[in-house]
Amino acid sequence: MVDARPAQTYRVLQASVRDVHAIRRLEQVVFPLDAYTYLSLTTLLMWPGGANFKALDRQGNLVGFVAGSPNWGTHVDWIVTLGVHPDHQRQGLGRRLLAVCEDNLTQPTLRLTVRTGNEAAIHLYETAGYYRLYVEPRYYSDGEDGIVMEKQRPDGR
Ligand SMILES: CC(C)(COP(=O)(O)OP(=O)(O)OC[C@H]1O[C@@H](n2cnc3c(N)ncnc32)[C@H](O)[C@@H]1OP(=O)(O)O)[C@@H](O)C(=O)NCCC(=O)NCCS
Repeated sequence: MVDARPAQTYRVLQASVRDVHAIRRLEQVVFPLDAYTYLSLTTLLMWPGGANFKALDRQGNLVGFVAGSPNWGTHVDWIVTLGVHPDHQRQGLGRRLLAVCEDNLTQPTLRLTVRTGNEAAIHLYETAGYYRLYVEPRYYSDGEDGIVMEKQRPDGR
């Protein structure tokens, strides 16, 4: 039977430092090589002006997370991490989390870094209005290049 759960099956709520354990578990699943440490996630969740959102399934399990961070002084906000648990992918949740994060950041320029081989994420970002800005050679710990992508919003949020 086809499982066609609509995105409304999920609740998207602001994440807080109380979610750090569930977020860390999700990060380890979706980023086997790049998962943020507890310390980094805690800092991210406590950073002033952060746009951090979680997606919960019907049972209240944390199945998605996005973090956006202001980069003070540069007029650029960064999407720091975005992940959806594999059991819950391809149902619009990644796009929804990205949009909520963007709506809660204020600068006209948004940036993020993505692995050159991450076609799924690159496709999501390109269809959400991001373009390839430059390549960061060997950005990731295993030597893969990163692509910095940017989106311009003339009036900010
Ligand atoms: C990238 C990721 C967040 C997308 O989450 P998702 O909930 O599956 O995304 P959505 O269902 O909202 O899909 C949005 C778009 O992403 C693209 N996409 C998602 N999965 C894809 C896949 N496997 N292949 C190709 N495109 C894909 C499509 O453009 C899709 O739009 P469409 O369904 O209209 O074609 C998810 O695959 C993930 O967590 N991956 C592992 C972690 C990661 O790579 N994060 C990004 C790091 S920069």
